Amino acid sequence: MQAYAPGRVELLGNHTDYNDGVVLSAAIDRGITMAGELSGDSIILLQSDGPQVRHDLDYRWPEPSTTHKWANYPLGVVRILLEEGYEVPGFSATISSTLPTGAGLSSSAALEVATCMLIEKLAGYSLESMARAKLCRRAENEFVGVNCGLLDQASSVFGKENAAVFLDCRAESIDTVPFPKGFALLITNSGIKHQLVGGEYNERREQCFEAARILGVRALRDATTEQLLNAEMPELTRRRALHVTGEIERVFAGVEYLRAGDGAAFGKLMFASHESSRTNFENSTPELDALVEIAHTIDGVYGSRLSGGGFGGATVSLIDPTKSETIMTRLTNEYKQRTGIDCMTYLTTLATGAN
Ligand code: GLA
Repeated sequence: MQAYAPGRVELLGNHTDYNDGVVLSAAIDRGITMAGELSGDSIILLQSDGPQVRHDLDYRWPEPSTTHKWANYPLGVVRILLEEGYEVPGFSATISSTLPTGAGLSSSAALEVATCMLIEKLAGYSLESMARAKLCRRAENEFVGVNCGLLDQASSVFGKENAAVFLDCRAESIDTVPFPKGFALLITNSGIKHQLVGGEYNERREQCFEAARILGVRALRDATTEQLLNAEMPELTRRRALHVTGEIERVFAGVEYLRAGDGAAFGKLMFASHESSRTNFENSTPELDALVEIAHTIDGVYGSRLSGGGFGGATVSLIDPTKSETIMTRLTNEYKQRTGIDCMTYLTTLATGAN
């Protein structure tokens, strides 16, 4: 039995998910495969490229491990399935991946979703898609200990070929938006690892919640940029919140541009998104800024921005596919000249979700 879950790229809507906002993303053509079989007893055996991890369900429910951290993603899913009353049989599974880790492409969510789907297949039941995405997010929040929103897991579950995923985090609803012809997505890994378990993500979350409290709204989803500009609050809190309201506004505009096939206008929103990350949310890095600045000067690039949590990881650029070779060469060479780092670029297609 086999299950596959893709990584994702965030197109617009940075740090909006835990603010009850809206996001545009896409599942990419790289992901995680779990191949497994029932063991006939209560023992779970997990094999990635390092030592095997073993857990006996008869003995106790899984607890987070500090030695084999990667196993916390699959074991977290096991734990939450059990907590939610699902049966989890013993199984052995081998994990293989075509996704770089630490690139901000959600290898963790892909591992969670692939685990959930494999267990569903082995145990003979099937969760409703949104329930699967939410269960995997619970595993990440409560077992791994990262307070992420729903974006990564939902994108991995709901990805659709040649379409962007529009996620409304308040309604917990999904829509897919056809991706315009004549445009392609280029991912560039800055080579600086992004680490969500770090404190910055939670700190930004708190600052957003603080801004909502000051405004007296349930979440920043209920605030507008104008309202924030007129409110009394610490300047830092205001800048953090302006990023979120700006991103939510850009997502709504971006959906319209995609539907109209206007990739050039969509690209401008991507540049604006990055600028807001750089100045308001301060979740960029000098390396990500360099990639976006270089992209800006290259003919055939419509837009470019950091993708995902930030503080390292990758950028996503919207490009003219007929110019991809020159774009990739220039990005790689000029980035190396400026930073001394080799970056990895690849064109991705917008792909189908977990199966
Ligand atoms: C990470 C988190 C997501 C989301 C993004 C930023 O990828 O896991 O939930 O908050 O950062 O948009």
